[in-house]
Amino acid sequence: MHYLRGRMALQRFSLVMVAAMAVGMLAACGASNGNAGSAGGGTGTFAAAKGCKHVGLLLPDSATGSRWIIQDQPQVEAAIKKYIPGVTIDSLNAQNSADTQLTQATTELTKGACILVTVAVDSTSAAAIVQKAKASKVPVIAYDRLIQDNDLAYYLTFDNVAVGRAQAQYIKDHHKMGDAVSMINGSMTDNNALLFSQGAHEVLDPLFMSGELKKVYEQFTPMWSGETAQTEMAAALTQTNNNIQIAYVANDSMANTSIAALKAQKLNGKVVVTGQDAETVGVHNILTGDQSMTVYKPIKNLSDATGKLVAALSAGTDPLVIANQKTATMGKANIPSALLPVVTATKENLKDTVFADNFVKKEDVCQGVPAGTAGVC
Ligand code: BGC
Repeated sequence: MHYLRGRMALQRFSLVMVAAMAVGMLAACGASNGNAGSAGGGTGTFAAAKGCKHVGLLLPDSATGSRWIIQDQPQVEAAIKKYIPGVTIDSLNAQNSADTQLTQATTELTKGACILVTVAVDSTSAAAIVQKAKASKVPVIAYDRLIQDNDLAYYLTFDNVAVGRAQAQYIKDHHKMGDAVSMINGSMTDNNALLFSQGAHEVLDPLFMSGELKKVYEQFTPMWSGETAQTEMAAALTQTNNNIQIAYVANDSMANTSIAALKAQKLNGKVVVTGQDAETVGVHNILTGDQSMTVYKPIKNLSDATGKLVAALSAGTDPLVIANQKTATMGKANIPSALLPVVTATKENLKDTVFADNFVKKEDVCQGVPAGTAGVC
Protein backbone atom coordinates (compact mmCIF):
# COMPACT_ATOMS: atom_id res chain seq x y z
CA MET A 1 0.00 0.00 0.00
CA HIS A 2 2.55 2.55 1.21
CA TYR A 3 4.89 1.39 -1.51
CA LEU A 4 2.26 1.87 -4.24
CA ARG A 5 1.30 5.28 -2.96
CA GLY A 6 4.98 6.14 -2.91
CA ARG A 7 5.34 5.09 -6.53
CA MET A 8 2.38 7.23 -7.65
CA ALA A 9 3.68 10.14 -5.67
CA LEU A 10 7.00 9.80 -7.39
CA GLN A 11 5.31 10.56 -10.66
CA ARG A 12 3.40 13.56 -9.36
CA PHE A 13 5.74 15.27 -6.95
CA SER A 14 9.35 16.22 -6.88
CA LEU A 15 11.85 13.90 -5.27
CA VAL A 16 12.22 16.28 -2.35
CA MET A 17 8.52 15.99 -1.51
CA VAL A 18 8.66 12.21 -1.58
CA ALA A 19 11.67 12.17 0.67
CA ALA A 20 9.84 14.40 3.15
CA MET A 21 6.85 12.05 3.17
CA ALA A 22 9.05 9.03 3.69
CA VAL A 23 10.64 10.64 6.72
CA GLY A 24 7.16 11.43 8.03
CA MET A 25 6.04 7.84 7.60
CA LEU A 26 9.13 6.52 9.35
CA ALA A 27 8.56 8.93 12.19
CA ALA A 28 4.95 7.79 12.56
CA CYS A 29 6.13 4.16 12.72
CA GLY A 30 8.69 5.10 15.31
CA ALA A 31 6.11 6.80 17.49
CA SER A 32 3.78 3.83 17.57
CA ASN A 33 6.58 1.39 18.43
CA GLY A 34 8.16 3.53 21.06
CA ASN A 35 11.23 3.32 18.86
CA ALA A 36 13.56 6.26 18.99
CA GLY A 37 15.08 5.69 15.57
CA SER A 38 14.01 9.07 14.28
CA ALA A 39 15.54 11.08 17.09
CA GLY A 40 18.37 12.45 14.99
CA GLY A 41 16.35 12.68 11.81
CA GLY A 42 15.59 16.38 11.64
CA THR A 43 11.86 16.13 10.96
CA GLY A 44 10.91 13.01 12.94
CA THR A 45 9.39 12.31 16.34
CA PHE A 46 12.26 13.99 18.17
CA ALA A 47 13.17 16.54 15.55
CA ALA A 48 13.96 19.22 18.14
CA ALA A 49 17.12 17.33 19.12
CA LYS A 50 18.88 18.09 15.83
CA GLY A 51 21.18 21.05 16.35
CA CYS A 52 20.17 21.21 20.03
CA LYS A 53 22.29 23.41 22.28
CA HIS A 54 20.04 23.63 25.34
CA VAL A 55 19.85 20.59 27.59
CA GLY A 56 17.70 20.20 30.70
CA LEU A 57 19.18 17.94 33.40
CA LEU A 58 16.54 16.85 35.90
CA LEU A 59 17.91 15.39 39.14
CA PRO A 60 15.82 13.56 41.74
CA ASP A 61 16.91 14.73 45.20
CA SER A 62 19.84 15.59 47.41
CA ALA A 63 18.95 13.43 50.39
CA THR A 64 19.04 9.77 49.35
CA GLY A 65 22.74 9.60 48.70
CA SER A 66 25.35 12.18 47.81
CA ARG A 67 25.87 10.85 44.30
CA TRP A 68 23.31 13.02 42.49
CA ILE A 69 24.89 16.24 43.72
CA ILE A 70 28.59 15.50 44.02
CA GLN A 71 29.04 12.95 41.24
CA ASP A 72 26.27 12.83 38.63
CA GLN A 73 25.42 16.49 38.24
CA PRO A 74 28.95 17.87 37.75
CA GLN A 75 30.10 14.91 35.68
CA VAL A 76 27.11 14.91 33.32
CA GLU A 77 27.40 18.67 32.88
CA ALA A 78 31.13 18.36 32.13
CA ALA A 79 30.63 15.51 29.67
CA ILE A 80 27.91 17.29 27.71
CA LYS A 81 30.01 20.47 27.60
CA LYS A 82 33.02 18.48 26.43
CA TYR A 83 31.12 17.04 23.48
CA ILE A 84 28.98 20.11 22.64
CA PRO A 85 31.03 23.26 23.10
CA GLY A 86 28.85 26.27 23.88
CA VAL A 87 25.90 24.20 25.10
CA THR A 88 23.56 25.60 27.77
CA ILE A 89 22.68 23.15 30.55
CA ASP A 90 20.03 23.87 33.16
CA SER A 91 20.29 21.46 36.11
CA LEU A 92 17.26 21.28 38.36
CA ASN A 93 16.71 19.17 41.47
CA ALA A 94 13.19 18.01 42.31
CA GLN A 95 13.96 17.26 45.98
CA ASN A 96 12.04 14.00 45.80
CA SER A 97 8.78 15.48 44.47
CA ALA A 98 7.46 13.99 41.23
CA ASP A 99 5.16 17.02 40.84
CA THR A 100 8.07 19.42 41.16
CA GLN A 101 9.97 17.41 38.58
CA LEU A 102 7.12 17.64 36.08
CA THR A 103 6.92 21.40 36.64
CA GLN A 104 10.67 21.70 36.13
CA ALA A 105 10.44 19.72 32.89
CA THR A 106 7.61 21.91 31.64
CA THR A 107 9.53 25.07 32.49
CA GLU A 108 12.60 23.77 30.71
CA LEU A 109 10.60 22.95 27.57
CA THR A 110 9.09 26.42 27.63
CA LYS A 111 12.58 27.89 27.87
CA GLY A 112 13.59 25.95 24.77
CA ALA A 113 15.32 22.86 26.13
CA CYS A 114 15.56 20.46 23.20
CA ILE A 115 16.92 17.36 24.99
CA LEU A 116 15.93 16.34 28.53
CA VAL A 117 18.20 14.12 30.62
CA THR A 118 16.01 12.89 33.45
CA VAL A 119 16.61 10.94 36.66
CA ALA A 120 12.99 10.23 37.47
CA VAL A 121 11.77 10.72 41.03
CA ASP A 122 8.99 8.28 40.19
CA SER A 123 9.51 5.85 37.31
CA THR A 124 5.80 5.67 36.49
CA SER A 125 4.56 9.21 36.88
CA ALA A 126 7.57 10.56 34.96
CA ALA A 127 5.75 9.26 31.87
CA ALA A 128 4.05 12.69 31.92
CA ILE A 129 7.46 14.28 31.36
CA VAL A 130 8.09 12.06 28.33
CA GLN A 131 4.69 12.95 26.85
CA LYS A 132 5.14 16.70 27.45
CA ALA A 133 8.54 16.54 25.81
CA LYS A 134 7.24 14.51 22.89
CA ALA A 135 4.64 17.17 22.18
CA SER A 136 7.59 19.52 21.56
CA LYS A 137 9.49 16.81 19.61
CA VAL A 138 12.03 16.68 22.44
CA PRO A 139 13.59 13.31 23.35
CA VAL A 140 13.90 12.27 26.98
CA ILE A 141 16.96 10.28 27.99
CA ALA A 142 16.18 8.33 31.16
CA TYR A 143 19.40 8.57 33.17
CA ASP A 144 20.09 5.78 35.69
CA ARG A 145 16.35 5.12 36.32
CA LEU A 146 13.97 3.78 33.67
CA ILE A 147 10.82 5.76 32.92
CA GLN A 148 7.82 3.57 32.17
CA ASP A 149 6.67 5.13 28.91
CA ASN A 150 6.81 3.68 25.42
CA ASP A 151 7.84 7.04 23.96
CA LEU A 152 10.94 7.19 26.10
CA ALA A 153 13.79 7.86 23.65
CA TYR A 154 16.80 6.34 25.45
CA TYR A 155 17.82 4.75 28.74
CA LEU A 156 21.39 4.95 30.06
CA THR A 157 22.12 3.14 33.29
CA PHE A 158 24.17 0.55 35.13
CA ASP A 159 23.24 -3.12 35.09
CA ASN A 160 20.88 -2.79 38.03
CA VAL A 161 19.96 -6.46 38.31
CA ALA A 162 23.70 -7.13 38.52
CA VAL A 163 23.89 -4.69 41.46
CA GLY A 164 21.39 -6.79 43.44
CA ARG A 165 23.15 -9.99 42.42
CA ALA A 166 26.52 -8.61 43.56
CA GLN A 167 25.13 -7.63 46.97
CA ALA A 168 23.54 -11.06 47.40
CA GLN A 169 26.59 -12.90 46.11
CA TYR A 170 28.61 -11.28 48.87
CA ILE A 171 26.08 -12.62 51.38
CA LYS A 172 26.18 -16.05 49.76
CA ASP A 173 29.97 -16.07 50.06
CA HIS A 174 30.08 -14.81 53.67
CA HIS A 175 27.30 -16.55 55.58
CA LYS A 176 27.07 -19.38 58.06
CA MET A 177 24.48 -22.12 57.86
CA GLY A 178 21.11 -20.89 59.13
CA ASP A 179 22.06 -17.18 59.38
CA ALA A 180 19.10 -14.81 59.74
CA VAL A 181 18.80 -12.15 57.04
CA SER A 182 16.89 -8.87 57.09
CA MET A 183 16.29 -7.10 53.80
CA ILE A 184 15.87 -3.35 53.41
CA ASN A 185 15.07 -2.45 49.80
CA GLY A 186 14.82 0.94 48.13
CA SER A 187 11.77 2.90 47.08
CA MET A 188 9.10 0.98 45.18
CA THR A 189 8.44 4.00 42.98
CA ASP A 190 12.01 3.78 41.66
CA ASN A 191 12.25 1.05 39.02
CA ASN A 192 15.87 0.49 40.05
CA ALA A 193 14.81 -0.58 43.54
CA LEU A 194 12.73 -3.32 41.95
CA LEU A 195 15.68 -4.44 39.82
CA PHE A 196 18.10 -4.48 42.78
CA SER A 197 15.62 -6.57 44.73
CA GLN A 198 15.10 -8.87 41.75
CA GLY A 199 18.84 -9.49 41.43
CA ALA A 200 19.24 -10.05 45.17
CA HIS A 201 16.35 -12.51 45.32
CA GLU A 202 17.66 -14.42 42.33
CA VAL A 203 20.71 -15.33 44.39
CA LEU A 204 19.18 -15.54 47.88
CA ASP A 205 15.84 -17.24 47.29
CA PRO A 206 17.35 -20.68 46.64
CA LEU A 207 19.24 -20.32 49.95
CA PHE A 208 16.04 -19.29 51.75
CA MET A 209 14.25 -22.26 50.22
CA SER A 210 16.91 -24.74 51.27
CA GLY A 211 17.11 -23.36 54.81
CA GLU A 212 20.74 -22.38 54.33
CA LEU A 213 19.62 -18.84 55.18
CA LYS A 214 16.51 -17.59 56.97
CA LYS A 215 14.75 -14.40 55.84
CA VAL A 216 13.38 -12.76 58.97
CA TYR A 217 12.37 -9.33 57.67
CA GLU A 218 11.87 -7.47 54.38
CA GLN A 219 10.63 -3.97 53.58
CA PHE A 220 10.74 -1.51 50.70
CA THR A 221 11.63 2.00 51.88
CA PRO A 222 9.56 4.91 50.53
CA MET A 223 11.73 7.65 49.01
CA TRP A 224 14.88 5.72 49.92
CA SER A 225 14.61 7.51 53.27
CA GLY A 226 17.57 6.93 55.58
CA GLU A 227 15.44 7.74 58.58
CA THR A 228 12.88 5.11 57.59
CA ALA A 229 15.65 2.57 56.97
CA GLN A 230 16.89 3.13 60.52
CA THR A 231 13.39 2.54 61.90
CA GLU A 232 13.10 -0.59 59.76
CA MET A 233 16.42 -1.99 61.00
CA ALA A 234 15.46 -1.23 64.60
CA ALA A 235 12.10 -2.96 64.08
CA ALA A 236 13.79 -6.00 62.54
CA LEU A 237 16.12 -6.24 65.55
CA THR A 238 13.26 -5.88 68.04
CA GLN A 239 11.13 -8.47 66.26
CA THR A 240 13.93 -11.02 66.26
CA ASN A 241 15.40 -10.30 69.69
CA ASN A 242 18.54 -9.04 67.95
CA ASN A 243 18.96 -12.35 66.20
CA ILE A 244 20.14 -11.05 62.82
CA GLN A 245 23.48 -11.95 61.29
CA ILE A 246 23.06 -10.37 57.86
CA ALA A 247 21.55 -7.02 56.91
CA TYR A 248 20.93 -6.72 53.19
CA VAL A 249 20.59 -2.97 52.63
CA ALA A 250 20.10 -1.59 49.13
CA ASN A 251 22.38 1.48 49.27
CA ASP A 252 25.11 3.09 51.36
CA SER A 253 22.99 5.91 52.63
CA MET A 254 20.41 3.54 54.13
CA ALA A 255 23.20 1.20 55.24
CA ASN A 256 24.61 4.09 57.26
CA THR A 257 21.39 4.62 59.19
CA SER A 258 20.88 0.86 59.52
CA ILE A 259 24.35 0.75 61.09
CA ALA A 260 23.16 3.40 63.56
CA ALA A 261 20.36 1.00 64.57
CA LEU A 262 22.90 -1.82 64.90
CA LYS A 263 25.18 0.44 66.99
CA ALA A 264 22.33 1.07 69.41
CA GLN A 265 22.37 -2.70 70.08
CA LYS A 266 26.19 -2.91 69.99
CA LEU A 267 25.93 -5.13 66.93
CA ASN A 268 27.83 -2.98 64.45
CA GLY A 269 30.83 -4.78 63.02
CA LYS A 270 29.26 -8.12 63.95
CA VAL A 271 26.53 -8.16 61.31
CA VAL A 272 27.24 -8.41 57.58
CA VAL A 273 25.90 -5.18 56.00
CA THR A 274 25.64 -4.57 52.25
CA GLY A 275 25.37 -1.27 50.40
CA GLN A 276 25.73 0.42 47.02
CA ASP A 277 27.21 3.60 45.50
CA ALA A 278 30.67 3.67 47.12
CA GLU A 279 29.70 6.99 48.54
CA THR A 280 31.87 8.71 51.13
CA VAL A 281 29.87 7.46 54.09
CA GLY A 282 29.75 3.91 52.72
CA VAL A 283 33.48 3.74 52.06
CA HIS A 284 34.14 5.14 55.55
CA ASN A 285 31.89 2.47 57.07
CA ILE A 286 33.74 -0.23 55.15
CA LEU A 287 37.07 1.10 56.42
CA THR A 288 35.83 1.06 60.05
CA GLY A 289 34.45 -2.46 59.59
CA ASP A 290 30.81 -1.52 60.16
CA GLN A 291 29.81 -2.17 56.53
CA SER A 292 30.98 -5.22 54.61
CA MET A 293 30.73 -4.26 50.95
CA THR A 294 29.38 -1.74 48.51
CA VAL A 295 28.68 -1.83 44.80
CA TYR A 296 30.82 0.68 42.98
CA LYS A 297 29.20 2.22 39.93
CA PRO A 298 31.80 4.27 38.04
CA ILE A 299 29.68 7.31 37.29
CA LYS A 300 32.23 8.75 34.91
CA ASN A 301 31.34 5.95 32.46
CA LEU A 302 27.64 6.77 32.68
CA SER A 303 28.14 10.51 32.37
CA ASP A 304 30.50 10.03 29.44
CA ALA A 305 27.95 7.85 27.62
CA THR A 306 25.35 10.54 28.31
CA GLY A 307 27.55 13.29 26.91
CA LYS A 308 28.20 11.24 23.79
CA LEU A 309 24.53 10.39 23.29
CA VAL A 310 23.38 13.99 23.71
CA ALA A 311 26.07 15.09 21.25
CA ALA A 312 25.05 12.43 18.72
CA LEU A 313 21.44 13.60 18.88
CA SER A 314 22.51 17.19 18.45
CA ALA A 315 24.83 16.38 15.56
CA GLY A 316 22.35 14.00 13.92
CA THR A 317 24.79 11.07 14.04
CA ASP A 318 23.82 7.53 15.02
CA PRO A 319 22.75 7.43 18.70
CA LEU A 320 22.48 3.64 18.63
CA VAL A 321 26.25 3.35 18.67
CA ILE A 322 26.01 4.42 22.32
CA ALA A 323 22.58 3.06 23.22
CA ASN A 324 23.23 -0.32 21.62
CA GLN A 325 21.20 -2.50 23.99
CA LYS A 326 17.43 -2.77 24.51
CA THR A 327 15.27 -2.53 27.61
CA ALA A 328 11.59 -3.44 27.61
CA THR A 329 9.15 -1.13 29.33
CA MET A 330 6.10 -2.52 31.11
CA GLY A 331 4.21 -1.50 27.98
CA LYS A 332 6.59 -3.72 26.00
CA ALA A 333 8.40 -1.08 23.98
CA ASN A 334 12.08 -1.75 23.43
CA ILE A 335 14.02 1.31 24.50
CA PRO A 336 17.54 1.74 23.07
CA SER A 337 19.73 1.47 26.16
CA ALA A 338 23.18 1.10 27.62
CA LEU A 339 23.59 -0.99 30.78
CA LEU A 340 27.06 -0.44 32.20
CA PRO A 341 28.95 -2.94 34.38
CA VAL A 342 29.33 -2.57 38.16
CA VAL A 343 32.07 -3.60 40.60
CA THR A 344 31.85 -5.28 44.02
CA ALA A 345 34.01 -3.24 46.41
CA THR A 346 35.27 -4.46 49.79
CA LYS A 347 38.12 -3.52 52.10
CA GLU A 348 40.31 -5.80 49.96
CA ASN A 349 39.93 -4.00 46.64
CA LEU A 350 38.89 -0.42 47.52
CA LYS A 351 42.44 0.70 46.79
CA ASP A 352 42.38 -0.65 43.23
CA THR A 353 38.86 0.44 42.37
CA VAL A 354 37.23 3.36 44.15
CA PHE A 355 40.52 5.00 45.19
CA ALA A 356 42.33 4.26 41.94
CA ASP A 357 39.56 6.17 40.17
CA ASN A 358 39.65 9.06 42.69
CA PHE A 359 35.95 8.42 43.28
CA VAL A 360 36.23 9.42 46.95
CA LYS A 361 38.92 11.40 48.75
CA LYS A 362 41.11 9.85 51.44
CA GLU A 363 40.71 12.90 53.65
CA ASP A 364 36.93 12.44 53.57
CA VAL A 365 36.84 8.74 54.43
CA CYS A 366 39.87 8.06 56.62
CA GLN A 367 39.00 10.03 59.78
CA GLY A 368 38.98 7.76 62.81
CA VAL A 369 40.30 4.89 60.74
CA PRO A 370 43.57 3.23 61.88
CA ALA A 371 46.53 4.18 59.71
CA GLY A 372 47.31 1.62 57.04
CA THR A 373 43.74 0.34 56.78
CA ALA A 374 43.02 -1.14 53.35
CA GLY A 375 46.35 0.25 52.19
CA VAL A 376 44.82 3.68 51.75
CA CYS A 377 44.45 5.49 55.10
C1 BGC B 1 20.26 4.66 42.25
C2 BGC B 1 21.15 4.41 43.44
C3 BGC B 1 20.78 5.37 44.57
C4 BGC B 1 19.28 5.35 44.84
C5 BGC B 1 18.86 6.43 45.84
C6 BGC B 1 18.80 4.56 42.67
O1 BGC B 1 17.96 4.75 41.60
O2 BGC B 1 20.55 3.76 41.22
O3 BGC B 1 22.49 4.58 43.07
O4 BGC B 1 21.45 5.02 45.74
O5 BGC B 1 18.56 5.54 43.64
O6 BGC B 1 19.12 7.69 45.36
